[in-house]
Amino acid sequence: MPSGQDLDSAAAIQVFVRRFYDRLLADPELAPLFLEVAGIDIEAHRPRIEAFWRKLLLGDPRYQRHMMDIHRQVHRRQPFRPGHFRRWLGHFEATLAAADWHGPLTDRARFLAHNIAANLEEALVTPDQYRQRRSATVKTG
Ligand code: HEM
Repeated sequence: MPSGQDLDSAAAIQVFVRRFYDRLLADPELAPLFLEVAGIDIEAHRPRIEAFWRKLLLGDPRYQRHMMDIHRQVHRRQPFRPGHFRRWLGHFEATLAAADWHGPLTDRARFLAHNIAANLEEALVTPDQYRQRRSATVKTG
């Protein structure tokens, strides 16, 4: 897969996810969350992450799992900390930069990753603020 292209195909997403997870699983703070706390089988996990990004970036509707609940279960076993999300985003950005991924879908992936990470962090690490903000949103429409 040549460098310097956009995340605009299933093949590009597959390469990106593989490289991203190489970084996550080499991180001494994050790897145990995947391998020990959640006990993932990486060969089963990676295709689900690819499907998640195919849905967000390419509109492929097949990913139907509830990722907030999945992280909630991890959090119950070992609480996430704000530093975890900063590190996760650092690896995400480093993976994009290393192969010079760029283009509209790369921009969208970056935007979504930052938003979802902030949302997960708020929901799990500061749930009271998250609930207040959500109920305020509901009230004001
Ligand atoms: C601190 C940062 C994060 C950590 C340590 C983390 C860790 C994990 C772990 C351990 C799992 C596997 C849970 C299991 O199968 O039992 C998981 C699942 C998942 N993660 Fe994260 N996560 C983080 C942030 C994110 C973010 C920001 C996104 C999206 C932008 C994301 C997307 C996903 C998805 C889609 C799944 C579910 C895959 C499936 O359907 O099985 N994660 N995560």
